[in-house]
Amino acid sequence: MNETKNQTAITQTWNNSFLLNIEVIDKQHKRFFEIFDTILQLSRKAENEGELLNVINELQEYAHYHFQTEEALIEKSNAPNFELHVIQHEFFIQKIKGFRMANNYNNPVLVNQIVIFMRKWLLMHISDVDGEYVTAVQQFLLKDGAN
Ligand SMILES: [Fe+2]
Repeated sequence: MNETKNQTAITQTWNNSFLLNIEVIDKQHKRFFEIFDTILQLSRKAENEGELLNVINELQEYAHYHFQTEEALIEKSNAPNFELHVIQHEFFIQKIKGFRMANNYNNPVLVNQIVIFMRKWLLMHISDVDGEYVTAVQQFLLKDGAN
């Protein structure tokens, strides 16, 4: 099989190694991956006819919603590195806003840039940064009885 074609066929879809065992967060992370998969599919099309803007908007809205959930839980449970985590979330939002602006200029490689950024961000953020709050949030939810 053609090596390049093979490479672009790799999809970074959800797998259970991303589970943090916090139900509400895992559900939202799965949704994040679904949006990522949609972008990945668009990156394989020659034309995306405005679909990219729709999915960028969806990603921005969903990121806001998800980050609010996470930040509230981190704060309430006194998990470590709250400020650092918020900075990472803000970085993501700013980056997505930049992609939305870039989309106005019909940049043909934009969709690939988004795929590269999101793949790295999802892998690194969920395993390293989100991983830091797991114990504190799990304990908080157990005590709170809300999970
Ligand atoms: Fe996070």
